[in-house]
Amino acid sequence: MKNGKLKVAIIGTGYVGLTTGLALAYLGHKVTCVDQNVQIIDRLRNNEATIFETGLEELLQETSARMMFIEDLQEIANYPDIIIIAVGTPAKPSGGTDLRYVEEAAREIGKFLIPSPLTIVVNKSTVPIGTARRVDMIIKEELSKREAEADFCVASNPEFLREGTALHDTFYPDRIVAGADDLRAVNLLRRLYAPILEQTFIPPRVIPRPRGYSLPPFLTTSPTSAELTKYAANAFLATKISFINEFAEVAEHVGADINEVARGIGLDKRIGPGFLKAGVGWGGSCFPKDVCSILFTGKKYGLDMPLVSAAVKVNCRQRKKIIEKLGQTLKEIRGSTIGVLGLAFKPDTDDVRGSPAIEIIRELLDLGAVVKVYDPVAMDNYRRSFPEQELIYASSVEETASDSDALLLLTDWDVFLHIPWSEIGAMMRSPVFIDGRNFLPATRMRGWGFTYLGMGC
Ligand code: UGA
Repeated sequence: MKNGKLKVAIIGTGYVGLTTGLALAYLGHKVTCVDQNVQIIDRLRNNEATIFETGLEELLQETSARMMFIEDLQEIANYPDIIIIAVGTPAKPSGGTDLRYVEEAAREIGKFLIPSPLTIVVNKSTVPIGTARRVDMIIKEELSKREAEADFCVASNPEFLREGTALHDTFYPDRIVAGADDLRAVNLLRRLYAPILEQTFIPPRVIPRPRGYSLPPFLTTSPTSAELTKYAANAFLATKISFINEFAEVAEHVGADINEVARGIGLDKRIGPGFLKAGVGWGGSCFPKDVCSILFTGKKYGLDMPLVSAAVKVNCRQRKKIIEKLGQTLKEIRGSTIGVLGLAFKPDTDDVRGSPAIEIIRELLDLGAVVKVYDPVAMDNYRRSFPEQELIYASSVEETASDSDALLLLTDWDVFLHIPWSEIGAMMRSPVFIDGRNFLPATRMRGWGFTYLGMGC
């Protein structure tokens, strides 16, 4: 295509595939998103957002002329320069990663490739080390089955998007990592991301460019280093959170406030302020799975990775600490009514995968509590995902608090800051408040009559 624009096919329309596709289409590339799920494709064709993500609906409308949604790669109208694999990589019960969908995608690509022009196959899904090689092998197998040849190479281009801000993170990344052995792949990836690397685009109205944002580096590595970079980034961030959570426990014992300590160390440029919020621990569809996966890989090489293992251990303990605090305050959990505020694994998403709420609610039910829950957006998802949990789904914070023996805040949704807390305590049977995210103002909450407990403060 002219003007440096490329034809891109993206396999998978989850958080990564869809947001990447929309951003690339916004930047002028011609994008076709492929997904076997007919319902998802139908909804996307009607510009309907299939995931809860800031700016998604607006971008679907704006890019509709440059976006196509199809169910089968073989139906594609324009032969793509780049095919991005962005399918799910769920965890196996063993802790390893289920590569079924990546392998299926590679097989489809092998059936599809033509002798020329050059096609770059890009792994964007978070995949175990060596998957770029595996994808290359599968494509070659498929080509040899049909006695065909094709000019292609496989690159690893991990994503570092956070749910809730996935489009923002795509347009304004900290860095882009291109793992490829073939210079032609590096060059094409550089062309694909040129508007981002040079910030030459007019920012979408709903996703403005952050003040002071500087151009992101384009880091070229081997495919294996790119794959490991993704795991190292997630494991490091998870460990950083577990580190502050470990110190939160020390703070409780010595009478310090972990929020002050986090500020004190975060101002050191070598440490940085991010991912130092103490609380109920990390969750989501990425950290828990990716940390298990890298531990699994380590084990394969005879490495026990004690630091990352400890981060997992601390994280499990954080869930238990909530129950311990509740037990110490209420004395008897059996028969009490506990209100849970927040079901999503973090704010600005309706995703409940790996959410701290899951284990805490399960434990409360096992202990014989009646559990009322409220979340501003994740209730439907939670109800669908855990139909076996017998819960009272409340329609507001007030309804959750009414006649409850304690409230637990598990997700730091902004709306919780704007509740008339001074009036809430009186609605409860006992005004116990356990803030699993150190989110509400402790002194004021205590002043309003709550028995308020934070995590390390
Ligand atoms: C994470 C990474 O941040 C992304 O860079 C990465 O691309 C993504 O995983 C992925 O692998 O796809 P995400 O899972 O969306 O993104 O969520 P985060 O914002 O990183 O939060 C993860 C968990 O840590 C949440 O449960 C959050 O509440 C918790 N957290 C985060 C803390 O407990 N304290 C903090 O200071 C920060």
